[in-house]
Amino acid sequence: MATGLLKRGAISTAKISSLTSRFIPSRLQATAAAAVAEAKPVEQPTNPTQPQHLKTFQIYRWNPDNPTKPELQNYEVDLNKCGPMVLDALIKIKNEIDPTLTFRRSCREGICGSCAMNMDGCNGLACLTKIDKSGPPSMINPLPHMFVIKDLVVDMTNFYNQYKSIEPWLKRKNPPPVKGKEILQTKKDRAKLDGMYECILCACCSTSCPSYWWNPESYLGPAALLHANRWIMDSRDEYTKERLDAVNDEFKLYRCHTILNCARACPKGLNPGKQIQNIKKLERS
Ligand code: SF4
Ligand code: SF4
Ligand code: FES
Repeated sequence: MATGLLKRGAISTAKISSLTSRFIPSRLQATAAAAVAEAKPVEQPTNPTQPQHLKTFQIYRWNPDNPTKPELQNYEVDLNKCGPMVLDALIKIKNEIDPTLTFRRSCREGICGSCAMNMDGCNGLACLTKIDKSGPPSMINPLPHMFVIKDLVVDMTNFYNQYKSIEPWLKRKNPPPVKGKEILQTKKDRAKLDGMYECILCACCSTSCPSYWWNPESYLGPAALLHANRWIMDSRDEYTKERLDAVNDEFKLYRCHTILNCARACPKGLNPGKQIQNIKKLERS
């Protein structure tokens, strides 16, 4: 864990804490319509006679090179000259207003997981989250309870180390049935991985989980546990018992209290809480 970084949440406005401290509602915008919309260019075709439609974005700013108190900075964007998603607005702000604004993004289609952030109190992917055109100013923050590297970029080291700790790869004690060939699965066994293999490791779930907020280093969190279950359930893997033993721990697994914020926050519509329940059930059997 990077100790020189700012812990997200250090900003002490009552508004932010009331938005992020308890309940992270659903952000399931990964609809077919959104997927189509995000494929459009960032710049929308403009009509010079069209009046401006200004929207204010209040964005969390913190610079490690000038480490004063974090603050929310206001930016105004003409939505008539901007794409429909929050990421479109962020890119427009960076390109046209303030090149120092820092955030992660890559695929712009909900696949890489890098644009995860907290928008109006909800964790989600900026590229799949539509701009609320009629509402009040939109507040954009880094993922809650993470160390901030700069602006909207958080330190994912602990999250990735937890993922690595569950050994997310196929482990075998015996060679493949046919040497040099893939190990086949029945359709039924393959279907057991549905709801898990789709995870893009965006961390929206773990950073919306109160148990993870309080024990980020000892509780594995919903994303890592979802992947633990993904390998436990894989018919080709021969380390099921060892995998169950590895997570059978008061903190690693049993800090989950089935609050299900994780399922509400997942932009891919997954339910990590359900996968954690499955691990607990297998531990009892
Ligand atoms: S169900 Fe478990 S992992 Fe999901 S938010 Fe609740 S405590 Fe966290
Ligand atoms: S389970 Fe969903 S929210 Fe959690 S890391 Fe995977 S894709 Fe992101
Ligand atoms: S930019 Fe890849 S998921 Fe948003």
